[in-house]
Amino acid sequence: MSISALSPTRFPGGISGLLQVASLLGLILLLFKAAQLYLHRQWLLKAVQQFPCPPSHWLFGHKKEFQKDQELQQVLKWAEKFPSACPRWLAGSRLSVLVYDPDYMKVILGRSDPKAHGIYKFVSPWIGYGLLLLNGPTWFQHRWMLTSAFHFDILKPYVAVIANSVQVMLDRWEQLISQDSPLEIFQHVSLMTLDSIMKCAFSHKSCAQLDRNSRSYIQAIEDLKDLSFSRIRSVFQQSDIIYSLSSNGQLFKQACKLAHEHTDRVIKQRKSQLQNERELEKIKRKRRLDFLDILLFAKMDDGNGFSNKDLRAEVDTFMFEGHDTTASGISWILYALAAHPEHQQKCREEVQTILGDEASITWEHLDQMPYMTMCIKEALRLYPPVPSVSRELSKPVTFPDGRSLPKGIIVSLSIYTLHHSPKVWPNPEVFDPSRFAVDSTQHSHSFLPFSGGSRNCIGKQFAMNEMKVAVALTLLRFELLPDPTRIPLPMARIVLKSKNGIYLHLRKLK
Ligand code: HEM
Repeated sequence: MSISALSPTRFPGGISGLLQVASLLGLILLLFKAAQLYLHRQWLLKAVQQFPCPPSHWLFGHKKEFQKDQELQQVLKWAEKFPSACPRWLAGSRLSVLVYDPDYMKVILGRSDPKAHGIYKFVSPWIGYGLLLLNGPTWFQHRWMLTSAFHFDILKPYVAVIANSVQVMLDRWEQLISQDSPLEIFQHVSLMTLDSIMKCAFSHKSCAQLDRNSRSYIQAIEDLKDLSFSRIRSVFQQSDIIYSLSSNGQLFKQACKLAHEHTDRVIKQRKSQLQNERELEKIKRKRRLDFLDILLFAKMDDGNGFSNKDLRAEVDTFMFEGHDTTASGISWILYALAAHPEHQQKCREEVQTILGDEASITWEHLDQMPYMTMCIKEALRLYPPVPSVSRELSKPVTFPDGRSLPKGIIVSLSIYTLHHSPKVWPNPEVFDPSRFAVDSTQHSHSFLPFSGGSRNCIGKQFAMNEMKVAVALTLLRFELLPDPTRIPLPMARIVLKSKNGIYLHLRKLK
């Protein structure tokens, strides 16, 4: 006579009975999960039925199409076939709708949908819930308080601070260059922008470019960007428990620790400077406070200040956003000018007319460089430092062509694809600064390096100033030439990178 696995006569005491029950429960759970994923997939298929896309695998989605860091190039190909938007399946039951049409962008950026949690959550152990990841009233409160750190009264004296950091980098380049060996500039520019943001926003006194801790912080950031990016895309790295046990998970933890040690040191140092009465007096006399001092002295509506956790999150957010994006921007701009010597020379002549040989650049000079500003914008178009941003629809949306998406869908605004769209920018691959001449007309949402709407970049003005100072001073000192054997290959990461670095030949000008 057969005895059922759940028979009370076998269950008590029998290990094999317990195992059988456990396996049965496991199986039921697995079936339940599979049914849940299946139903979710069916819902997603229905939700995006008005948006055609290339065929995808039921488990791996479009993984095969996006191999070997060809993501940006692949989406450009899709955009030719599928106008305005196209679903991208990250896995069988995970998708985001890629959007690259200016009218679509306008609709999404005009709403107040939250950041896509399913994507941004993977960077939260690193940068925490600061301005970039926050949503709702807490975001609004932080944004309102931190906006004053970017008032022009505050930004004005930063020009000299940034110029000083740039000169340190250029001095180093003078020592390093020799006629035949090109220089990989991204690393150097990253150290310089880190130095600038630490001095400007965090009142850091010493030079981060000469400091070993800054180098390990920059390396940790590189690792964190690579690891988070691959986690967002991988079917097998979604679960926190499984990820924490994997080798990538361990590397991520170590890199987070390094990054946090850096930001903790900066906070600790500033707190101890503020113990000094004279420093405190200086702060009290200031009409407007620097970024970190705003955080340290802030009082919320309830009378309390920032909690240590919120403070750390904002410092981690600004330390990363405030240096890595501008490092990408400046490196790609210098490459674009190296590849287009005629525009490089026009910019140099403009800067020489304004500054002479003095190289002491001020806030007032920054508005007197129209041609260089056009070149910077054109480089930001071709190489947007933030290639895409994502939102999760909090209510259904209908686009101007009548197609719609329901609540809950993740929408990724592909800034890179928008900037390379031939419908928006004729001959999009041509570097043509005249696109940004004062009399040129563009769609309000055709150029979005700093995103748009209420969640646009809070550091936009700081970033534009830093890029102008860095480019102007570099052009006064060096002629830039590309390395024809290593043309940079744009690669999607959280911040745009080059797969093979950015190598330039630098020739010291007489
Ligand atoms: C060329 C340089 C920069 C570019 C291209 C850039 C681009 C962007 C973009 C596209 C966003 C929107 C992100 C999203 O929606 O997920 C953003 C947000 C943000 N950026 Fe920048 N950024 C740059 C420089 C900076 C700098 C220098 C700082 C700080 C000093 C900064 C701080 C932030 C912060 C805190 C946010 C979140 C704002 C919010 O949601 O309220 N960025 N940036």
